[in-house]
Amino acid sequence: MQTVTTLGVLRKAVDALRGDGATLALVPTMGALHEGHLALVRAAKARADHVAVSIFVNPRQFGPKEDFGAYPRQLARDSALLAAEGVALLWAPAPGEVYPEGYATNVSVAGVGDGLCGADRPGHFDGVATVVLKLFNQVRPDMAFFGEKDWQQLAVIRRMARDLDLTRPAAEAIHGFPIVREADGLAMSSRNAYLSPEQRSAAAALPAAMQGAIAAIASGTPVPQALDGLRAGLIAAGFDSLDYAELRDADSLAPLGRSAPGARLFVAARIGGTRLIDNMAIS
Ligand code: PAF
Repeated sequence: MQTVTTLGVLRKAVDALRGDGATLALVPTMGALHEGHLALVRAAKARADHVAVSIFVNPRQFGPKEDFGAYPRQLARDSALLAAEGVALLWAPAPGEVYPEGYATNVSVAGVGDGLCGADRPGHFDGVATVVLKLFNQVRPDMAFFGEKDWQQLAVIRRMARDLDLTRPAAEAIHGFPIVREADGLAMSSRNAYLSPEQRSAAAALPAAMQGAIAAIASGTPVPQALDGLRAGLIAAGFDSLDYAELRDADSLAPLGRSAPGARLFVAARIGGTRLIDNMAIS
C-alpha cells in the first residue's frame, strides 16, 4: 500500500494504478477505522480493480463547539488495517493540502441537507459536500463507497453528484453499504470510543428502542405515539436528550406523519457528551 500526503504525488500514484484501464474505488473516511469502514473497503474491492482510502479529519464539517480536536487520530493503526485489507493507496493529506491559504469555496446542498443533522449541526453538510467533492476531484475514482449509518450524508453526496453532473464518480456509482452493528445492535461509529463502559452499555438501548418503535408502528400504534415511546425509553435507559426521532422518506428525506412504503426512522440522541445517530427501514 502506498501512503500519499501531497496532491502532486497523489496524481502520479492514481495514474499509475489506473494503468491500462484498471478501475479505482474510493472509500472516504476520517480514520479511527472500525469494522464498518473495513466492510466498505471489502465491498469496494469486490467491485473495483484497486481501492483507495482517504483519511482526513475535515475541520469544515465540525461546528465550533464540536469534537474536531478530540476526534480520534490513529494513522499508524489505520494504515496497518488498510494494508492488511489489500488497499492500494492511502490518501492522508495534511489540512493545508486540502484547504490551502486563500481557500474560499463552499458547496451547499439544499433540501436533503436541511433537516435532521443539518438542522442540529449548522454547516455540517456544507463541510461534508465540500470535502467530498474535493476528494472526488483529487482521486477521480470510478466509484465511491459510504456507510448508510450516515444516511443523510449519503443523500447529500448523491444529490451533489447529480446536480453537478459528476462523472468521477457518477451519482449511480456512489454506493451505500448497510450499517455494521456491534453484537448488541449499536451501530459501529468512531465516536463510540468516547463512551464510558456505563454509557456504552446504555447505548444499546438506541437500536432496541428503534426496533420497538418500528414494531409498535407495524402493529398500528400512531407514529407520534410510537416516537414518544422511543424518546421516553431512551431517557429511561440513560440517554440525556434526543436531537430528533423522525420518520422520513428514505429517498427524498421528506418528513412522514405515518408509515408509508420507503419510510425510514432516523434518530440522533445524546449520552454524556456523545451524539449517536442511527437509522432503520420501517418495513
Ligand atoms: O463519513 C465520514 O467519515 C465523513 O463525513 C467523510 C465522508 C469522510 C467526509 O469527511
